[in-house]
Order: sequence, then C-alpha cells, then structure tokens
Amino acid sequence: MPTDDELIDLDRAHLWRPYTSSDDHEQRPLFVVERAEGPWLIAADGRRVLDASGSWWCNNLGHGHPRLRRAIARQSERMMHCTLAAVTHEPAARLSAELVAVAPEGLDRVFYSDNGSTAVEVALKMAFQYWQQNGRPKRTRFLGLPGAYHGDTLGAMSAGAVDAFSAVFHPMLFDVGRPAGLVEQRWEPVFEHLFELLRKDADRIAAVIVEPLVQGAAGMRMYPAELLAALRAETERADTFLIADEVFTGFGRTGPMWACDEAGIAPDLLCTAKGLSGGVLPFAATLATGRIYDGFRGDKSRALMHGHTFCGNPLGAAVAREVLAIYREERILEVAKPKAARLEARIEEMNEVVGVSASRARGMCAAFDVGARGYMGTVGWEISEAALELGAHLRPLGNTVYLVPPLNIEDGELERLLDVVRESTERVLRSAR
Ligand SMILES: Cc1ncc(COP(=O)(O)O)c(C=O)c1O
Repeated sequence: MPTDDELIDLDRAHLWRPYTSSDDHEQRPLFVVERAEGPWLIAADGRRVLDASGSWWCNNLGHGHPRLRRAIARQSERMMHCTLAAVTHEPAARLSAELVAVAPEGLDRVFYSDNGSTAVEVALKMAFQYWQQNGRPKRTRFLGLPGAYHGDTLGAMSAGAVDAFSAVFHPMLFDVGRPAGLVEQRWEPVFEHLFELLRKDADRIAAVIVEPLVQGAAGMRMYPAELLAALRAETERADTFLIADEVFTGFGRTGPMWACDEAGIAPDLLCTAKGLSGGVLPFAATLATGRIYDGFRGDKSRALMHGHTFCGNPLGAAVAREVLAIYREERILEVAKPKAARLEARIEEMNEVVGVSASRARGMCAAFDVGARGYMGTVGWEISEAALELGAHLRPLGNTVYLVPPLNIEDGELERLLDVVRESTERVLRSAR
C-alpha cells in the first residue's frame, strides 16, 4: 500500500489537475482519499471529512450506496459496454422509458452521452439542426442569461458566460445573445431584457438555454420560479425552443425532481447528468419532445450526426435505473424536505456572522458570500482550508461558500457539516477583522 506522501508525489509529478494552475497544483495541500461512505471522504489513517460539495455537485445519494454498488456488480457480470449502433440492451431501453415517465410532460425521447457538457452540446445541435431542416434555416442564434454556465466544451462554453472559465477561449466560441450586465439583486430587469431580445429577433433564435432556478458556477445565484415560467411562455409565443440545463438542478437538488417542476413548466429539451447516475459514473442524457424527434425523420441526411463511444453505456444505464428505483422506494424527495428546511434555517443564521452576506437556499443547495462575488475571490478558499482542518471538504466558488450535501444525509451529519461551516467561517472572518 503506497503512503499518502508517495501518492502526493506521483500526483504532483504526472497529473494535470482541473481548474488549477501548474504552480497551485504543485504547492496546494492535497487530501488523499482512500474511500468514501455516505457524506464522508475517508483517508487511509481513518480521518473523515464531510463532502460538502457533493464531489462536484453529483453525489445526491451519498457515496457507496449499497444498491448502486450491487447494480454495477450485477450489470458488470453480464456486459460492461456495447455499441448502441443498431443494437439495444435492457438497461438503455428500459431506462429511456423510466426517464420519460419522470420527466416533465412531452419529453419523450432520450439521447445518451457521457457528461453534462455533452448533454448540452447535444441539445444545442438538436435545436440548431431541427430548424435547418424544418423550414426555418435562419434560426441559427441562441440566447442565454448572464452568469450562465453549461460546461467546458466549446459549444457549452459559448452558451455560458462565466469569464473565469471561458474568457481566454472567446475567439473560438460562437456568439450567444444575452442581457448585458450581471445580476446582483434584481432578476426581473434581466429577464425582461432577455424577453426583448427574443421578441425582437424571434425569427433567428434557435433556442434559449438556461439553468433553471439556480445558476451554479456563477455562484449559486437563485432566481424566482415565476421568471422561468414567464420565459417558457415567451419561448412558446415565439414558437422557439427552451433548453433547460438541469445537469446540476435535476434529481431533486432544488426540491422537486426537476427545477422546471417548481415553475410548472416543461421545456423542449432537458439536459441531465451528475445525479442521473447518482454521481457514480460518467453518464448523461438529453431529453427531447416528440416534435423535435419528428424533425429528424427522412433519409440519412436528416439524422442527428452526433454520437459518443459510450452513449447508453450499460453500466451507466443500469446505475441510473437503480437511482430512479431508489428515489421511488426510499422516497428521496420527501426524505430531503425537512433536511432542506433545516439547511435553509441554519444557512440563514449565517447572516449573523460579520462579513457574511446574501445567504440563500433552495432545496438541498445552500450558499452565502464572504466578500465581493467572483470566482477569483480568495476568502472562500481560506474558509475551505479551515474547514478541512475541522472536518469538511468545501470547494468554494471564489468568495461564495456553498453546500450541496446528499439528499439523504443523516440529520446529525447535516448538523455537523453546518457546525463546521459556521466555525470555519467565523474563524477566518474574525481573523480578517
Ligand atoms: C448547469 C451545468 N451544466 C453543465 C455542466 C457540465 O457538466 P460536466 O462537468 O459533467 O461536463 C455543469 C457542471 O457543473 C453544470 O453545473
């Protein structure tokens, strides 16, 4: 068994860490995880820390859920991978029907890919090609919101607008229309501006893409469900598509199964990943309406020429089926409700701490700010270092500290996590005064 120091040396020598400069990679402390259980990340020496960022927002059912482990083992005995080209298999065929059954109304087709970014790429390409071959070829433009984040591949970056992630790549990206400026307090004028852009240019708009209710990477910025409902009404009026990127918000993160459910709307295209596989395998899907699917009928030249080696991967699909079964049988959404209420109450109390502002929560997602918002802020990182000592792995978005615990976290563990967050925040902000 290698020691932690040996692993760190190997990591520093050969691994290239996401979102990390090469200097930071070589200097920042690393926590070596040996295994994970429920909300805990566990080191070889038995030290346990709470995984507050849900291993990048996907760990909705806790680590190592025994049913997910068994589902993978069962499926691996039969078949771990096989093409989806003119072939089908039980996990993918059944999962498609099961996903449609829980999806917002009208989304009755499922296209598989590997991750949130590819689910978004697929949605953008479906919308674009649909209009190309169905009589509206001038519809080549997309609209989005300021602060949007949809992933790191080129199309997803074009749809997004968090400069920290994409500014350097601007020359490689396509132009997406969006209201100017950042939202601080009031979302209404931003949406009104978006509606104006849509009304003015409806003949050229292929789709509007949004993260419903919570903009994750922008700093867990939350907007009212009524604005999402109003946007849906506007896209219907313009007879153009709404793409709901539920990669983060889906699978109950904000309360209901989909954030769209909260607004009582059904989009034309819905992207899901992360929680779809319970956060255990790279697996994603783009759901589309029958109308869009029908727009791809005809000869080969009308097909969506997009696919990934691992689309519909049997292991991923088997796990996603088990995730849906767990949500049904363990009543995950109901179980999460009182926990979400507690999370909201305690995160609101964080406003008592001098230096904390804008505490907010929606479902099992909570956040507060500790200085000017922005990905480059450093106070959040100081809190993250303090929290690691106290027993929680926080990954801030600059000066935004957030929590996305498993939906089924034990009450005592949730309280412990909130204690650590409070204590580490107080410690850092007190010493800054
Ligand atoms: C809303 C949203 N869309 C897309 C993505 C990209 O997902 P992935 O990292 O799996 O490519 C993310 C990732 O955080 C996300 O939050």
